[in-house]
Amino acid sequence: MVRFPTRLQEVVTLKMADNKQCELFFDSFNRTSMLCVGNIKTKQSSFVDELSRSGLPPCDAAVNLAGENVLNPLRRWDDAFRRVVVASRVETTKTLTKAIAEAERPPRAWVLVTGVGYYRPSPTAEYTEESPGGDFDFFSRLVSAWEAAAKIPGDGTRQAVVRSGVVLGKGGGAISQMLWPFRLGLGGPVGSGLQPFPWIHVRDVAGVVCHALETEGVRGVLNGVSPASPGTSNADFARELGSALGRPALLPLPGWAVRGVFGAERAVMLLEGQRVVPKRTLESGYCFVYPDLPSALQDIVC
Ligand SMILES: NC(=O)c1ccc[n+]([C@@H]2O[C@H](COP(=O)([O-])OP(=O)(O)OC[C@H]3O[C@@H](n4cnc5c(N)ncnc54)[C@H](OP(=O)(O)O)[C@@H]3O)[C@@H](O)[C@H]2O)c1
Repeated sequence: MVRFPTRLQEVVTLKMADNKQCELFFDSFNRTSMLCVGNIKTKQSSFVDELSRSGLPPCDAAVNLAGENVLNPLRRWDDAFRRVVVASRVETTKTLTKAIAEAERPPRAWVLVTGVGYYRPSPTAEYTEESPGGDFDFFSRLVSAWEAAAKIPGDGTRQAVVRSGVVLGKGGGAISQMLWPFRLGLGGPVGSGLQPFPWIHVRDVAGVVCHALETEGVRGVLNGVSPASPGTSNADFARELGSALGRPALLPLPGWAVRGVFGAERAVMLLEGQRVVPKRTLESGYCFVYPDLPSALQDIVC
């Protein structure tokens, strides 16, 4: 078994919560290099530019977490922004894949984090890693193109894809935008609240990435959602967050307001959802640190 530094888990967690920390990691670990993560900007240029120019630095593992924030409420959902969203994922991945394929000493393992937007939103259908998808709307096609860009010919580098749900963690991601309305007792379900809410604690998404890097037999897709996720609706999530904060969470955020801020296409990510089962993730031996929502939220809000 390849042994990665114990700090790897911490680093991937920090990366998902706060990009700035990752830069520190990359700088300090570059010499002993076990890892490249995402699109880390160096002082002079972006890491991706650096990759195209100088090739892959010696490393045993590569993880790609790059991608423009799709749900930035300050960015209008127009063609220009769509292009940025696609390029920041697909082009970045292509550059990294090419650098890996051309490396003199390629990394042993390579993990890409994509999203559960691959699966068609449905209140009832349950999706495992084998379920079809990736071909019905902008986001599903984006995931297909992103994952296709990560394929490396040959057996030199073992490859895995983690299809992540909404990442819940301290100081970043979805929760950071919800916390203050919920703390003021102004939180509640989004839209009808009946839509599935695929979620994972940030420590577990980092854990699944590390598991994929470290476990020799693991390759292909792993769903990055908690085992309780398929039974969690948006209203369940709002109620649990309110309860963890000791606040009521009864004020729904109407669908028209979400569509007004994000545009109809992006609003689907919030107003609809997928019941995703981490079947291969569990079968491959990953043990979730936060399998249920109350324990995940207690950790985050306390
Ligand atoms: N957070 C979630 O709930 C969630 C759920 C499913 C999937 N994912 C996926 O997981 C990945 C990491 O998510 P995250 O929450 O850690 O995102 P994040 O905090 O927004 O970090 C995104 C990373 O992408 C880089 N980036 C931003 N804009 C870019 C651009 N235009 N071109 C190239 N790179 C760019 C950033 O680089 P700088 O630091 O240099 O700006 C940063 O390293 C993303 O691909 C996201 O789609 C996240």
